Amino acid sequence: LDFDSPDSLAVVVNKTRPLADPAYIPAELHDAGGVLLRPEAAGAFGQLSAEAAAAGVGITAVSGYRTAADQAHIHESYSASYGAPTADGISARAGHSEHQTGLAVDIGNADGSCALEPCFETTPAGAWAAANAHRYGFVIRYPAGATTITGFAYEPWHLRFVGTELAAELHETGQTLEEFAGFPPAPSY
Ligand code: DAL
Ligand code: ZN
Repeated sequence: LDFDSPDSLAVVVNKTRPLADPAYIPAELHDAGGVLLRPEAAGAFGQLSAEAAAAGVGITAVSGYRTAADQAHIHESYSASYGAPTADGISARAGHSEHQTGLAVDIGNADGSCALEPCFETTPAGAWAAANAHRYGFVIRYPAGATTITGFAYEPWHLRFVGTELAAELHETGQTLEEFAGFPPAPSY
């Protein structure tokens, strides 16, 4: 697996591994419930949300592909609100976000309950995603209790597309992408 190329579905981006090209822009982006994702991720998200809906669970796409400038703006906004240390625990600096790869999607409930909060895990969308997202090739990239490895607080809403094979492996072993790839923990920049 290629953990280095921004174009790879297995790319590992974190606080110590910026995107190899900080100005990376995916070659192709498709609509996925109102946000943009790489074609592979967009197709898989369409299946995921359709099957969740068939099971009575509404899953919305809250945020998908973000440019480096979008990411910088979000990080600056969190820094202004909460201070830089808190911002760094919940929001990646530009060039360090999976959202810039077009492979990450933040999901929500149709009624907005527990949006971007830890209690999202207890909501229909959060619980369904935790149990089923791997079947569509997505993993919960920032699991509970893994902050010292991933560098980020628990985000039960942040799904990262890695393909069904790797997603199944990570789901079964409970490993983070860092652990699976054999990379050191990335708690800080
Ligand atoms: N919230 C995730 C870590 C990001 O900003 O990419
Ligand atoms: Zn996210």
